[in-house]
Amino acid sequence: MDALARQISQEIARRRTFAIISHPDAGKTTLTEKILLFGGAVREAGAVRAQRAARHATSDWLEIEKQRGISVSSSVMHAEYEGTRINILDTPGHKDFSEDTYRTLLAADSVVMLIDAAKGVEPQTRRLFEVCRMRGLPIFTFINKMDRAGRDPLELLGEIEEVLGIEAIPVNWSVGSGREFRGVYDRLGQELLLFEGGNHGASELEERVVAGPIDAPDVQAAMGPEAAATAEALELLDGAGSEFDLEHVRGGQQTPVFFGSALTNYGVRPFLERFLEMAPCPGPQLAAEGPVDPVATPFSAFVFKIQANMDPDHRDRVAFVRICSGRYVQGASARHQRTGKTIRLAKSTLLMGRGREGVAEAFPGDVVGLFDPGVLRIGDTICEGGDVSFVDFPAFAPEHFMRIELGLVTKRKALAKGLEQLTQEGAVQLFREQDGSSATIVGAVGPLQFDVLKHRMAAEYKVELRLSPLTFSVARWPQAGFDEDMVRHSQMTKLVFDRDGRPVLLAQSQAFLDSLVQRHPELKLADTPDPKLFQRTQNAA
Ligand code: G4P
Repeated sequence: MDALARQISQEIARRRTFAIISHPDAGKTTLTEKILLFGGAVREAGAVRAQRAARHATSDWLEIEKQRGISVSSSVMHAEYEGTRINILDTPGHKDFSEDTYRTLLAADSVVMLIDAAKGVEPQTRRLFEVCRMRGLPIFTFINKMDRAGRDPLELLGEIEEVLGIEAIPVNWSVGSGREFRGVYDRLGQELLLFEGGNHGASELEERVVAGPIDAPDVQAAMGPEAAATAEALELLDGAGSEFDLEHVRGGQQTPVFFGSALTNYGVRPFLERFLEMAPCPGPQLAAEGPVDPVATPFSAFVFKIQANMDPDHRDRVAFVRICSGRYVQGASARHQRTGKTIRLAKSTLLMGRGREGVAEAFPGDVVGLFDPGVLRIGDTICEGGDVSFVDFPAFAPEHFMRIELGLVTKRKALAKGLEQLTQEGAVQLFREQDGSSATIVGAVGPLQFDVLKHRMAAEYKVELRLSPLTFSVARWPQAGFDEDMVRHSQMTKLVFDRDGRPVLLAQSQAFLDSLVQRHPELKLADTPDPKLFQRTQNAA
């Protein structure tokens, strides 16, 4: 192995690139911040939140963000923890999320699913979980807010298994809950971790370790009044017979479960350490030509997100690329597969909230933002070798639909250009009522995207867009057995065409589609145009 290959393998081995998925308010910002605190990337608690606030104060990138006090765009954060390079892909946490949120998961190697102990599995977590599952991503569960009165941990485990259909294996178990939440018992390491002090800063937290099996006198004594209940729960779990199996975790059939409180910091470090140990490092990504070896293949990357006009003074456009193989060197040249042109990786940036820093080199698993004059699109491959192309990106089913009132638009050219740009960014999807006609229906994963669309069309393309709501809430792509006559006279559904001319059924409810499939068992409907596109990674052995 030459020196470069050795360097690349070492860098890969120490990288963990993941996203945190949760329902709003479960504590994603708080947990992210605590992980960054442990990694020394931020020095004080509140920094991520403060950075978000500063972003609202200093930038008018998307006036809507300011008006609603939310973050529409997601960014990437990184930290070093005891030799491990952590890349956290931030997914927007507000209730209106977009295809962008889903797409960010395509750049992750694993996922942390954050669950509020009082609320259990909530709708947004479930939707994001489905995408992770389709992609075969390993999922780690952190049950948060154990410092508050929550639901019974055993009941929560049952809910995860039942609602999400994944085996939930507690790696640690909470000792007490609510005000009595004092620590966790690590089942794998057979040790009790008791916490004291803490609250906001990692350095203020005191951890006491008592090693030994759960029934050891020292461990029992240290647990105090919680000893009996903890031992009983663990006995039940042991009796249930499910065992932790790293292969099953990596294959996405089993999720390791951890208990803690991001706010008080209790249980965050034990979680982080086990997670970093168990989560996979960047593995081979799937391209049209087969799996791409991250070490042996020269630099390759795919674009998973584009943000235009982030800074209105500079009209910049940043393409976020996930590096899949080789070494990225700033200033090097790479081939843009779709056009065959050579592009220079001249200006790149790592975004940390609103702050930016230059990147001289990066490795598989890293995400860099490339300033781009408008050449790159979501799903594009750039590579040094010229023989890699990562398969096209899946589109996700929108759940909200509006009709564009074309009659009221005077600037047709600007409209077409703006719509093209915004669909390329993946903010919305366009549908035509007849194949070949102009697009008149716009679909989005979250309704906020319509506001974003209107705002950006007005601000950037000077087009006043009028949209009228449609009552559809489901889009499905027929894969087999479809005949237009099946839906010709139905008021409940509508046949439209996506930008590649594929037929799409819009329906008012899933129940209607279920009954359609019952009547026509040969009909196969998919919730993405090409479900096969999800499997991008070949899990590393
Ligand atoms: P999100 O990004 O998932 O939307 O959640 P975020 O971290 O913003 O947390 C939502 C609320 O839950 C915040 O309270 C936060 O302090 C609280 N929280 C997060 N983790 C824990 C935890 O482990 N225990 C408890 N008790 N609360 C937690 P807030 O009142 O909305 O905001 P703030 O005033 O604390 O900033």
